[in-house]
Amino acid sequence: MARIENSRLTVVGAGSVGVSVAYAALIRGSARTVALYDIDRPKVEAEVLDLAHGTWFTGGSVVGGADPDVIDGSHLVVITAGAKQKPGQTRLDLAGTNVRLLERLLPILLEHAPDAVICIVTNPCDVLTVAAQQITGLPSSRVFSSGTVLDTSRLRRLVADRALVSASSVHADIVGEHGDTGFALWSQARIGTTPVLDWVSPDGHRFTPDELDAITQDVRDAAYRIIDGKGATNLAIGLACARIVEAILGDQHAVLPVSTVHDGLHRLHGVALSVPSVVGAGGVQYVPEVSTTPVEEDQLQHSAQTLLATQHALGF
Ligand code: LAC
Repeated sequence: MARIENSRLTVVGAGSVGVSVAYAALIRGSARTVALYDIDRPKVEAEVLDLAHGTWFTGGSVVGGADPDVIDGSHLVVITAGAKQKPGQTRLDLAGTNVRLLERLLPILLEHAPDAVICIVTNPCDVLTVAAQQITGLPSSRVFSSGTVLDTSRLRRLVADRALVSASSVHADIVGEHGDTGFALWSQARIGTTPVLDWVSPDGHRFTPDELDAITQDVRDAAYRIIDGKGATNLAIGLACARIVEAILGDQHAVLPVSTVHDGLHRLHGVALSVPSVVGAGGVQYVPEVSTTPVEEDQLQHSAQTLLATQHALGF
């Protein structure tokens, strides 16, 4: 498979996240056609109109509605529908409700877009990826989640601001759960080609281990802070998803920390969590082992055990 010319992206869910994904994909030209699907007909039709009215400035086209036939012919489906975190709720608290939503939704998706790649954004996205793979029977390359792509963007912003460099010059990833046990792979983190702990900013600032711990915690706390202030996060996750969409529809072979179900990597079995993975046509093409320190390996296993506990409580 290669870059898809008349690419069609369907976003499921016309809430703030789904609309942000569609909007970001339009502005970035991530897909030729963006379809928005939601069972709330007045809402989805209004959002489609509002998006379509801007396509003079973006190119591309927007369609959508409450009829599942809007999903037909999709190359990629991004699922954002489901219960959202409320103030004080963790992402894992949403698991039961949103697994049941997937049980209803996925058969419809397979009927209307049997060859589509599926990217899950709905939380807890790691747990829901395992559920989706079991419900659909699809290979782990074709059903994955946005994982820690957004967390990694948050991390790179925080490091860039302290290092006085562009975020695009920060090469550092959050791995593991998209949630409270995700962690920065500091041993592999670079600014340009310089290890983070060796970096000296133009103003003389040097990163200390305590500061790196604080940055990791800031990333973990980010969504809670935003939800407390505005009720939900939507803008950055929209952009993160548009980046994933481009990697797939453009067959970019981009290394992104998406979350797939692992079967042996780092001794992980039957759990989905994020490590830097090659993303291109057909979904997740390759998931290499990552170099970790013993402490980081323990953190990865802790993340896996946390996710498995939720999975087992739900019976899968
Ligand atoms: C966040 C949501 C997408 O981290 O989980 O903002």
